[in-house]
Amino acid sequence: MSQAGGRVPLIAGNWKMNLDHLQAIGLVQKLSWSLKDVKHDFGAVEVAVFPPFTDLRSVQTLVAADKLALRLGAQDVSPNQTGAFTGDVAASFLKKLEVEHVLVGHSERRHGHGEGSDLIARKARAVHAADMIPMICVGETADDLSEHGAASVPLQQLTEVLADLPAGAEFVVAYEPVWAIGSGEAASPEQAEDVCGKLRARISELRGEADADRTRILYGGSVTSLNVAGFLRQANIDGALVGGASLDATEFSRIVQFKKHVTGA
Ligand code: 13P
Repeated sequence: MSQAGGRVPLIAGNWKMNLDHLQAIGLVQKLSWSLKDVKHDFGAVEVAVFPPFTDLRSVQTLVAADKLALRLGAQDVSPNQTGAFTGDVAASFLKKLEVEHVLVGHSERRHGHGEGSDLIARKARAVHAADMIPMICVGETADDLSEHGAASVPLQQLTEVLADLPAGAEFVVAYEPVWAIGSGEAASPEQAEDVCGKLRARISELRGEADADRTRILYGGSVTSLNVAGFLRQANIDGALVGGASLDATEFSRIVQFKKHVTGA
């Protein structure tokens, strides 16, 4: 089963600043065993992990050794190609580590590091130029929600990033209401669907219907194995970006198997 438009669901784990490289190996090993045990079909539901930079090489090596169809993501990237940018990591370095997706515009970068749309758009462009897929994170704060409603800020953020991304570039959108992140208070599936539907309509206006049809839009914010199926049942939600619950291999594996929750199997 794939979503409308033939979109294959994607379950992504954003580890944030958790787990050193040894702990990362432990988690991926457990996840690998768990998904092998249930004969998970990675073609039917794609799975990605976004470890800290220092873990990427270890996770890449393990994934290759285990022939695991786990996709690798990075949490951030420099907008610049190379040179005197102390502390930054270039997109080309990530590509060499077989990273496929890179988060841009996560609320913890927007709010904790003052990243604005210009910088986020440059980062998305750098990811695309290095032949990877930007995962563009958007979402409203609790204040935005009461002042402007749920969709207005996410739509504006998406529009600003897409303005700079070349036509035809592949990207993923992650709708993460800031008030739902790490709060244990997820949006309702209907609330999330309403915003994700509007985001898809905006992609259609800006890039055409074919791009809107193929682009995956994920929901993130307090996703667990208990609520994931409700989100994935929605027409415009094609996956989940999971924070805290992705740090527990058993729980993340249950989230990946959301289809079993739908059928009750
Ligand atoms: P939580 O799942 O911990 O709420 O985090 C969501 C998130 O920010 C993923 O990027």
